[in-house]
Amino acid sequence: MKSPNGQRENWSSNLGFILAAAGSAVGLGNIWKFPYIAGENGGGAFVLVYLVCIAIIGLPVMLCEITLGRKTQRNPVGALRTLAPRSSSVAHLLGVAIVLGAICLIAFHRYGWGALSLGLGLAVFRHGWTVVGAMGVIAGFVILSFYSVVAGWTLGYVIKSAFGLIDASSVESATNHFVAFAGNPGWSISCHFVFMVMCVAIVIKGVKVGIERWSRILMPMLLLLLVVLIIRGITLENGSAGVRFLLSPDFSKLTTKSVLIALGHAFFTLSLGMGAMITYGSYMRKDQNIFTSSLAITFLDTLIAIMAGLAIFPAVFAEGFEPAKGAGLVFLVLPAVFSKMPFGTLWATLFFLLLMVAALTSGISLLEVVTAYFVDERKWSRKRATLIFGGVIFLLGIPCALSPDKDIVGWTRMPWLQNILVKAFDIKLGCFLDVMDTAASNWLLPLGGLFISIFVGWIWGTRKAIEEIREGSHNFADVHLWSLLAGLRDDPSHNSDVHVITLASVWGIFIRFVSPVAVMIAFLHTIGWLDFANKGHAPPPQPPPAVEQVDGAVATQE
Ligand code: PHE
Repeated sequence: MKSPNGQRENWSSNLGFILAAAGSAVGLGNIWKFPYIAGENGGGAFVLVYLVCIAIIGLPVMLCEITLGRKTQRNPVGALRTLAPRSSSVAHLLGVAIVLGAICLIAFHRYGWGALSLGLGLAVFRHGWTVVGAMGVIAGFVILSFYSVVAGWTLGYVIKSAFGLIDASSVESATNHFVAFAGNPGWSISCHFVFMVMCVAIVIKGVKVGIERWSRILMPMLLLLLVVLIIRGITLENGSAGVRFLLSPDFSKLTTKSVLIALGHAFFTLSLGMGAMITYGSYMRKDQNIFTSSLAITFLDTLIAIMAGLAIFPAVFAEGFEPAKGAGLVFLVLPAVFSKMPFGTLWATLFFLLLMVAALTSGISLLEVVTAYFVDERKWSRKRATLIFGGVIFLLGIPCALSPDKDIVGWTRMPWLQNILVKAFDIKLGCFLDVMDTAASNWLLPLGGLFISIFVGWIWGTRKAIEEIREGSHNFADVHLWSLLAGLRDDPSHNSDVHVITLASVWGIFIRFVSPVAVMIAFLHTIGWLDFANKGHAPPPQPPPAVEQVDGAVATQE
């Protein structure tokens, strides 16, 4: 976005940038998803693996994205277009390979996948690396459409709990309440609408007045609310069992699958792989420090995930509930937990308010990616871009609101859409929200992150990236890692002529080798081409592809 004097807008300070970017990273992923996947994967050991993934994949890729953004001062598409070589034989070869793959798919009657791959192959052939940025913009649409529906539920729960409308005297009644709420199109579509209106209203104001100012208010509020909830949780009788569950590792509960879940989640939770950090980095000034900012964002995101766990598990244990309750943990169990506490209504309202605040600061970053693309590349006005695409995303979210969960309504309201997806793509997911989530989280984000690290590591080159990072954080490239760890950074005997292991060289190795390989493994596992879990065992009996439910909805058996 340009300010009236024609300059691109900037964050007003380093702290402003850090709070906005941390606001993007901290969201439903931290507070709703992290506790429940930690609960399902055995607690402490999973948390440890997740922390390792954040450090070795998350942080290096975060540096890449912010650097790409600040260097080019552009949205993801513009960033890759600016830095990619004019003609790239690698991209041409890749394009041809994808087109050949598409022809094979069509020959095997996989028409949907064939058509998608054909489009992708031609786009890669014609536009090269820009396609990676375009995938990010598309991911922005896809993620925000379902994210806003779930965020809408949190909004609905704020209102309902504030007025004491949730009967959560037991898990059963809380479950019934949630099913009735999320299954009611009136409620979910209107909450989804209100959430999108809030996102549009903030993004329309631009970077400084809109996003930064709101993040400055909302992020500290979030931290404060979490601290209150943690104190409430751990002072409950038996609350310490929840803290132990989260912090003491039991490696016998850890499977290869949980390692890969941790890796994938590290990616989602830091908003990586779709250009959100490229876009936010593009509003950074040259004298702002990319390295310490990335550290701070990663640290804040991780801190809030752990704090969310500490706020939720003591309450779950104190009330004698199951930690592995699944995706419903927040909406089903917590209202029941809160209702048994003194001032339960207040705690429930505060908690859902906090979840909504976190989702809002992530939602605006998703909308900003889409907006920045149309403002920078298509020369639209910010107002026009946000209003139109806010509207488009609202419409895209309606099918998610109509088919939000396989256990609630499944596909009963849109059997035709399910038929199309089954015929074209052989997709047998339980609901449309899952389709959107899977498309983004299992495909677009891992692929995007993989390509971004390959692009920075091998095409643009770590050398040029380091030059950019060095501006505003010159120590990053020159300081010797061991000297830094030993606290001897300025000691005359530790100069960079002697030592070669600097922060920069470690980052370069991670970005060229470690991150791409790890993400590739996770990606292949996610799409089912690599299955460590069954290695060495007889293949498990194939489950029937789909089961007809009594109400006619089709769901895949897990
Ligand atoms: N990081 C956000 C969360 O944890 C989700 C998100 C993903 C936001 C990708 C922007 C881009 O909820």
